[in-house]
Amino acid sequence: MLLAALYIAQEQYGWLSPEAIRRVADRLNLTEGQVRSTASFYTLFELEPQGKYRIQVCEGLSCYLVGGAEPMIDFIVKRLKIKPGETTPDGKITLEVVQCLAACDLAPAIKVNDELYGQMTPEKIDALLKELTQLPNVERGG
Ligand code: FES
Repeated sequence: MLLAALYIAQEQYGWLSPEAIRRVADRLNLTEGQVRSTASFYTLFELEPQGKYRIQVCEGLSCYLVGGAEPMIDFIVKRLKIKPGETTPDGKITLEVVQCLAACDLAPAIKVNDELYGQMTPEKIDALLKELTQLPNVERGG
């Protein structure tokens, strides 16, 4: 029940803010410490504000073998001026490095929120970043 509530809260708020943690704790009659402790155990849950667009770059073996991960990460780091785990100052894009996106046949792969992009090249990433940075920064629900 707690994991489902945390998942729903994260969907609603975009991350598990102190307010979201408090609401989940109140709803399930748990302490905020119990809820935060459980949330911090799972990498699925975000305890820091996230960008509207969450870019996950795969550095798993299949993506690595086609030479994709490191050049893609370097390209994005230079272009957005953020490191993995950081969010752009405008709150639009968060960069993450992950181990496998379960799309090894599309290596090198990246994911933006729930959308998967395969056989990425610097040119494709550049076009994608241009598109994402030009989209309006709409606030998430909450
Ligand atoms: S190793 Fe990159 S998608 Fe599986």
